[in-house]
Amino acid sequence: MAKYIAVAGKGGVGKTTFTALLLKQMVQQRKEISILAVDADPNANLDEALGLEVTGTISDVLEQSKDPKAIPTGMPKNIFIEYKLQQALVETKDIDLLVMGGPQGAGCYCYPNDILRKHLETIGEGYNYVVVDSEAGLEHISRRTIPHIDVMFVISDSSARGIRSARRVYELIQGLKSAVGTLYLIVTKTNTDSLELLKEEIAQTGLTLLGDIPLDPMVAEYDLAGKPLFDLPDDAVSVKAVQSILNRAGIFN
Ligand SMILES: Nc1ncnc2c1ncn2[C@@H]1O[C@H](COP(=O)(O)OP(=O)(O)O)[C@@H](O)[C@H]1O
Ligand SMILES: [Mg+2]
Repeated sequence: MAKYIAVAGKGGVGKTTFTALLLKQMVQQRKEISILAVDADPNANLDEALGLEVTGTISDVLEQSKDPKAIPTGMPKNIFIEYKLQQALVETKDIDLLVMGGPQGAGCYCYPNDILRKHLETIGEGYNYVVVDSEAGLEHISRRTIPHIDVMFVISDSSARGIRSARRVYELIQGLKSAVGTLYLIVTKTNTDSLELLKEEIAQTGLTLLGDIPLDPMVAEYDLAGKPLFDLPDDAVSVKAVQSILNRAGIFN
């Protein structure tokens, strides 16, 4: 059975950075595993962080499926959607990537969502690991388009406000019907005394602090130059921090 890992937290805290570096470590440490990365943020940019080219998103597919003219005559709608969803998958040697895409308009999307849910469940089972870069509101998890979560990393930046918002994410998760296994807090963009200063706020979240990712000038440099974070060198502080986080998270157990 595939192990589902999700990365959650409010916008700008460092979810995509962490997800890209986590994927990098997973690939480096276990060459033999198959990984599906899912970008569930409407402001998708995991593809850029990984250095992958995306041709279409799941949103595009669902949007197209509403237009009867887009569907070849005689082709059942569900087959069309399945086929298109398969096309939206970016496949590479190490990691495959699915991008959910922009928010869907108003109205009931129950039918496509049902198909999407089944599709993700089927496709997910073809991998050892599914790693989801979540959107702030955890929509896909609450709608259960993502079947279950084994390990969730709640990301906060180094601010009291960030930690409080991580606490709200935790409360949101507790209110969900979906099963979430282990939950960890990760604090990003730290400097030497951040964790000490945030100690009380962190204690109040009820979350287990697994580690922190220091503020890394190389992350800023790569982002500025539009270079994939996946290509950061192994001695970059952020890369080393995520390596030690992965080792403690017990993901490969
Ligand atoms: N460890 C870090 N060191 C330096 N800058 C970082 C670090 N983590 C994230 N950032 C910066 O913070 C911003 C938001 O990061 P991102 O991963 O895109 O957040 P999110 O996906 O949560 O919206 C980016 O400009 C990124 O370069
Ligand atoms: Mg992001």
